[in-house]
Amino acid sequence: MQDEDGYVTLNIKGRKPALTSVDSASSPLWRVMALILLTLCVGLVIGLVALWMMSATELNYLQVENKNFSGTLHRLAQQFCQYLIKQSEQKSGASHKCSPCDRNWRYYGDSCYGFFSHNLTWEESKQYCVNMNATLLKITSQKVLEYVKSRTGFIRWVGLSRKNTNEVWRWEDGSVPSKDVFELSGNGGDNMNCAYFYNGKIYPTFCNDKHYLMCERKAGLTKVDTLL
Ligand SMILES: *[C@@H]1O[C@H](CO)[C@@H](O)[C@H](O)[C@H]1NC(C)=O
Ligand SMILES: *[C@@H]1O[C@H](CO)[C@@H](O)[C@H](O)[C@H]1NC(C)=O
Ligand SMILES: *[C@@H]1O[C@H](CO)[C@@H](O)[C@H](O)[C@H]1NC(C)=O
Repeated sequence: MQDEDGYVTLNIKGRKPALTSVDSASSPLWRVMALILLTLCVGLVIGLVALWMMSATELNYLQVENKNFSGTLHRLAQQFCQYLIKQSEQKSGASHKCSPCDRNWRYYGDSCYGFFSHNLTWEESKQYCVNMNATLLKITSQKVLEYVKSRTGFIRWVGLSRKNTNEVWRWEDGSVPSKDVFELSGNGGDNMNCAYFYNGKIYPTFCNDKHYLMCERKAGLTKVDTLL
């Protein structure tokens, strides 16, 4: 018994430091702290994984969106501008900062239209537009046809011509006009190889006749920052 007692005593003595730490670890404060730390760690790991997964998909999404973003913004600005322009035309005097076209040019669709009152031959008109960094009109939709009709009551040259009576009519860029938009009014006789617009219709005539003209050029980018 003595021996055993002594052994027990010794044993206890030997384990005393260990017991101390067990004592500390089992103190409620440390347990709570450890639990909190563990919870934090696990939470942090879960959070990081979730964040990584989210940012991966988000980034993907943003990259796809970004390709479209400036285009979307531009389209929005354009629609906004056309709304403002319409408004200011109805109540003349209302001002806005939309200026995708130079002064005296009209904004419609994606283009600026210039209506000029000079009596020029077709070739002279073509050159006049080129000097304006523009081209004679190419009318490729019913909308544009209606727009021009509503804008001017004069005979005006358009960018439609043919080399001679046996050739097809072509726009300045070489394309052939679509029959869906308009049919040339009359086939035109010999040497009637240039076309003018009048009241929604397009007629062949002599290239050396002198008429008013209209030019077209791409609208500049609507400057969104000047709008807002
Ligand atoms: C870009 O936007 C158009 C609509 O404006 C949409 O149909 C198209 O899917 C978009 N493209 C990308 C790559 O997001
Ligand atoms: C152009 O010619 C027409 C007919 O010849 C004439 O009535 C008109 O005044 C002229 N316009 C200009 C700006 O010279
Ligand atoms: C045409 O473009 C040139 C070069 O960009 C420019 O210097 C010139 O002022 C423009 N002319 C007109 C009439 O806009």
